[in-house]
Amino acid sequence: MLTSGKIGLRARHADDIPVLRAELYDDVVNSARAEGGPWRPITPESKDPRLVVDDQEQGRVQFSVVELEGGTLIGTATLWDIDSHNRCAHIGLGLLPSTRGKGYGTDVVAALCHYGFVVRSLQRLQAETLSDNTAMLRSAERNGFVREGVLRSSAWVLGEFLDEVVLGLLAHEWKPAG
Ligand SMILES: CC(C)(COP(=O)(O)OP(=O)(O)OC[C@H]1O[C@@H](n2cnc3c(N)ncnc32)[C@H](O)[C@@H]1OP(=O)(O)O)[C@@H](O)C(=O)NCCC(=O)NCCS
Repeated sequence: MLTSGKIGLRARHADDIPVLRAELYDDVVNSARAEGGPWRPITPESKDPRLVVDDQEQGRVQFSVVELEGGTLIGTATLWDIDSHNRCAHIGLGLLPSTRGKGYGTDVVAALCHYGFVVRSLQRLQAETLSDNTAMLRSAERNGFVREGVLRSSAWVLGEFLDEVVLGLLAHEWKPAG
C-alpha cells in the first residue's frame, strides 16, 4: 500500500465495488461533474472498467483509497492515460461524500504524485477539473500543481457549459511532503 498523511492507496477489492457504485457513480450530480460525459446508471452485474479493475491495462492504474486508521474505504484514485514515451499521465480522484473536506483529497493527490514521479518515473502529471471545483483545485495546488490554462465552456454539465481548468506539475517542481 502507498500511504500519504492519513490515507492509503491499495488495490480494488470486490466489496469496494457496491459502495463505490452507490455513493459515487449512482450520484447523478457528482458523476456528471466528474466524469466528462453523461451520467448513466451502472447495473450491479456490470464489469464497468471504472469499478472492476483490469490488472493488464497498461495505460491506467486504479486504486481504492482507505483511511489509514481503521482501513475504511473512502474513495477512488486513478493515474490514467499513462504515456511512457512522453513520460506523462493524468490524475483523477473521487471521495465518498461523507469523507470530503477533511484534508484527504490533498493527501490523495500527494500519494498519486509519489506513485507517478517515484514509482513510475514520470516527468509530468496533469489534472483537469471544473473551474468551480475549489476543493479539487486546492488539493492539486497544495501539492504544487500550477494552473496552465482554462478551457472555456468545454464541459456540458446538467444543462450548462462550464469552464475547465488544466493544471500541471513537473517532476523537478514537486516537493514531497516530509
Ligand atoms: C475534489 C476532492 C477530491 C477534494 O478532496 P477533499 O478531501 O474534499 O479536499 P480537502 O479537504 O483536502 O481540501 C482541499 C482544499 O479545498 C478546500 N475545500 C474543501 N472543500 C471545499 C468546498 N466544498 N468549497 C470550497 N473549498 C473547499 C479546503 O479548505 C482545502 O483548502 P486549503 O488547502 O486552502 O486549506 C473531493 O472533494 C471530491 O471527491 N469531490 C467530488 C469528486 C470530484 O470533484 N473529483 C474531482 C474531479 S476532477
